[in-house]
Amino acid sequence: MKQITQYQFDAHQLTIHWKDGRQSELAAIWLRDHCQMPDSRDPVSGQRLMNITDFPLNLTIANVNQTDDLMVIDFKPEHRSEFSVDWLIANCYCINSQADDRSESNKNLWQKSSFKTNVTKYGYLNFCTLPESKIAALQSVKDDGFAILSDVPCEAGEILNVVSEFGFVRHTNYGPLFEVRTTVNANNLAFTNRGLGCHLDNPYRDPVPGIQLLHCLQSSTVGGDSILQDGFMAANLLREENPQHFDTLSQQWINYRFQDADTDLQARVPMLEVNDKKEIIKVRFNNRSIATLTLPPNKVTAFYAAYRHYAEILERKELQITFKLAPGELILFDNTRIMHARTAFSDAGTRHLQGAYSDLDGLYSTLSLLKSQLLDSQNAQNQK
Ligand code: OGA
Ligand code: ZN
Repeated sequence: MKQITQYQFDAHQLTIHWKDGRQSELAAIWLRDHCQMPDSRDPVSGQRLMNITDFPLNLTIANVNQTDDLMVIDFKPEHRSEFSVDWLIANCYCINSQADDRSESNKNLWQKSSFKTNVTKYGYLNFCTLPESKIAALQSVKDDGFAILSDVPCEAGEILNVVSEFGFVRHTNYGPLFEVRTTVNANNLAFTNRGLGCHLDNPYRDPVPGIQLLHCLQSSTVGGDSILQDGFMAANLLREENPQHFDTLSQQWINYRFQDADTDLQARVPMLEVNDKKEIIKVRFNNRSIATLTLPPNKVTAFYAAYRHYAEILERKELQITFKLAPGELILFDNTRIMHARTAFSDAGTRHLQGAYSDLDGLYSTLSLLKSQLLDSQNAQNQK
């Protein structure tokens, strides 16, 4: 297994030339900090046992030796680390990208025309019983931002069982779930028969729930159609059409608020959140729950120009998919990316949805485990 053709070192850096022509330049301090020996890492959990202050910033490499699959590094002050070549290939910062699975760069951005045929619906029974089916649905949530499940039993509370298939319920002031149906003196426009413009839920919650589910139990009204759209795609268009507007919405933090007799939730956050590479990682848009805008006076005009531009993009029909949820159907979506809306509906008839929230990290974790378990079982089959 000669994956390394050559290596050199000096006091500050180890340089490895890989067989495929790539090169890694690894700083002494990084190597020490990533030491995999049992005195540096707990062998069971793999967690670090040492703190960065346990060794000097200017520590140096005293010597390096290579065996076929190990690089043995002696440091000064005295410490010996052994790294497997496989570990170095998998972890080296020169040849591995710093993946951010929340970022726009790792998503399928979409608009209406991206769906040539009807959107896939995943049968609930298969979702619960076949790992391949659950992987496909959860992968859609990760890549496209949403998945639709069909044939979910029309039982009140079933939505909580759906959440338990991939994660944990985020309780809110509504409890573990909320009822979406017309009520008198509603504390939220969602609980009337009015249409709702494109929005993400709960931008006033910190952290915002990363996953939202809406389960249709009854639907016999005229109207009440569901609309979804990709907030990352819309933010991309904003950046293309006016980079200044994009910067304004990512740099100007604003307050969101929800208040009723029992609740007063507030968060100060940007409408568009970017990561260290300026890639979009979260959007928040909810005209109903923006609190009083308190901006520096010289920023007000620019903010409104940018906010209105983003809102105008969100109204473009070519970015939206529209469908009517039938009883038994459930939408599961990334509430940091996918905007939802609904059309107004008639007084006659009944429309009853139940909603619940969960978190993206739990869903991603379930997906990752299911994928590696499936790979292991396929490898075991192949070896038979
Ligand atoms: C909500 C909501 C959409 C609908 O309750 O957050 O947006 O289809 N409902 O009723
Ligand atoms: Zn909503």
